[in-house]
Amino acid sequence: MEALLKAWDGERIIIEFDWPTGAWIIIAIHSTRRGPAGGGTRMKPYSTMEAAMADALELARSMSYKFACADMSRGGGKAVIAVPPDLTPQARADLLRRYGALIHQLGGMFQTGPDVGTSSADMDIIAESGAPYVFGRTVQAGGAGDSGPATAIGVLHGIGVVCQQLFGTSALAGRRILVQGAGSVGGRLIRLLREANASVLFSDVDEATIRQIREIPGVSFVPPEEVYDMPCDIFAPCALGGILNQETIPRLKCRAVAGSANNQLARPEDAELLRKRGILYAPDFVINVGGAMAIVGMETMGWSEAEANTHVTQNIEHMLRQTFDLAAARNISTADAARSVAETRLSGH
Ligand code: PHE
Repeated sequence: MEALLKAWDGERIIIEFDWPTGAWIIIAIHSTRRGPAGGGTRMKPYSTMEAAMADALELARSMSYKFACADMSRGGGKAVIAVPPDLTPQARADLLRRYGALIHQLGGMFQTGPDVGTSSADMDIIAESGAPYVFGRTVQAGGAGDSGPATAIGVLHGIGVVCQQLFGTSALAGRRILVQGAGSVGGRLIRLLREANASVLFSDVDEATIRQIREIPGVSFVPPEEVYDMPCDIFAPCALGGILNQETIPRLKCRAVAGSANNQLARPEDAELLRKRGILYAPDFVINVGGAMAIVGMETMGWSEAEANTHVTQNIEHMLRQTFDLAAARNISTADAARSVAETRLSGH
């Protein structure tokens, strides 16, 4: 744990043990140099406290990169709530209220939104005590709603840029795209890809989700253990992070990786493994900014939903092209190229 904390380049970590539930609340504030730290609240069980901490620290850094690449005046942070697996709905709601009070106490230094394991309805509950520092409440409660749809639209356009780079055209018709995880973002991405006439493969671990997505015409299911060996044009990870690693990268049979999951690379060096295999990687924090950008823009800058979508697609298209060009010009990985753009902006140059 000590090594983990020492190696982190962020500003502040707030840890709270929630006695009534046994949950750990970790708020990692990576950077406030460009503005107050924004980032989602991730709520799920973790095998160890150290794993939860590692996730919070890495995810917070990605939020700094994301907002910097999107050129928004926000810093990056993330909250991880490591919950016991058997939390009752009542206990969960009470925990969210106590968490909201903590957010409020921080006075705006950290402002949150939905992420893996939390929804807009949860943001409504957190906002009871945490307002005005809660993004993405339901539309009925006066928020901009779920961040999943805008993330999916951004990823769809990012995949278009990837196709342009690989095949000379951004058209998705007939391209074989494998989506890992059909949740809030992946499920919507699958539908958008089908509307663009792509041929879609998907994987998930939840029985009900699998049944539902399988019904969509032109979509076929791939068992989770076959995902990394499945031939496709583009692999779109839309589940959890760390899935691009020494074990999976040598197996991949795709031309590119472009999906919404945060922190897809297990280690920074894994970007090199992808590059050596000639697999084009769309850096996660560039291609998945849509949700955060749209929700924060709608709630703080008065963007309409249509304006938000335009900002999202234009930013992602521009940043991805710039990333691919820079990587080619410097002969470095696309992840390193995007990181260098983000870090330059974060250091105030
Ligand atoms: N889940 C979002 C992300 O990882 C976090 C977020 C959503 C932040 C909405 C702000 C508003 O980018």
